[in-house]
Amino acid sequence: MIYYDHSPSSTHTALVLIHGSGGSRLHWPDSIRHMPGVNTYALDLPGHGHSAGRGGSSVGDYADGVDAFISSLIPQRIILMGHSLGGAIAQKLALRARTPLAAIALVGSGARLRVHPDILTGLLSNFEQTVEMVCRWSFGPEADPILVSEVKAGFLATEPAVMHADFHACHRFDILETVGRIDVPTLIVSGAADRLTPPKYGDFLARNIKKSRHVIIEGAGHMMALEKPPEFTRIVADFISKSVGSR
Ligand code: COA
Repeated sequence: MIYYDHSPSSTHTALVLIHGSGGSRLHWPDSIRHMPGVNTYALDLPGHGHSAGRGGSSVGDYADGVDAFISSLIPQRIILMGHSLGGAIAQKLALRARTPLAAIALVGSGARLRVHPDILTGLLSNFEQTVEMVCRWSFGPEADPILVSEVKAGFLATEPAVMHADFHACHRFDILETVGRIDVPTLIVSGAADRLTPPKYGDFLARNIKKSRHVIIEGAGHMMALEKPPEFTRIVADFISKSVGSR
């Protein structure tokens, strides 16, 4: 079972939020999790946050679980927003086109997500030190140190095997050849200072996905939604009103 927070609205538009590797629903700022004018559903993937289970072994595996969840939300119009691994899941579901999506938003993500070997091996051999390193690479220069330590505590509360499996799933994700078949309105958000999924990954998505819009947030790192909530929320709200509207 997937645990989620629901922030209700009287409209028929659902914004479904999928976090990244080792994360939880709390990796989205309050202004997104309680965005007015849409029903927001902030998910904990299996094995993360309050969701039971062992986590997924591949992006496709996670996509199956998210697909079952979003199917249950129809007839609402669904916007799927994913961060990093969550963005890979959103791309996979947009390509499958089994469950109709009104739009997707890809935040700090890419069509290929190779992972540095020091992360992959370190998460199993030296979890705490590797989480420290992942945190160093996850934030831009302006990030609030309190935010960094909160995110670090969240990673440390995740099972090392689950976090490793997430990064391993990312490492094997590669749809560079097929991502151009995505045919729904797509928002791409990059952090100018993102070291894990640099803006060039967003550029590639924007060049290949026909109905896309790419926005780069200056000074933000990989955790751009938490680092720059007002800018990030404005970008998402603008995309929803222009591309999807709300009813
Ligand atoms: N979109 C567009 N281009 C991409 C891409 C994407 N999603 N992923 C890789 N590429 C490009 C790279 O820019 C590179 O191009 P270049 O040769 O012109 O510089 C090429 O494809 C090969 O890169 P990559 O697939 O990353 O393999 P690599 O063996 O060169 O590097 C890593 C492997 C892990 C060292 C490198 O990917 C890296 O530093 N990653 C960032 C850190 C990380 O671990 N991120 C986690 C993401 S969840």
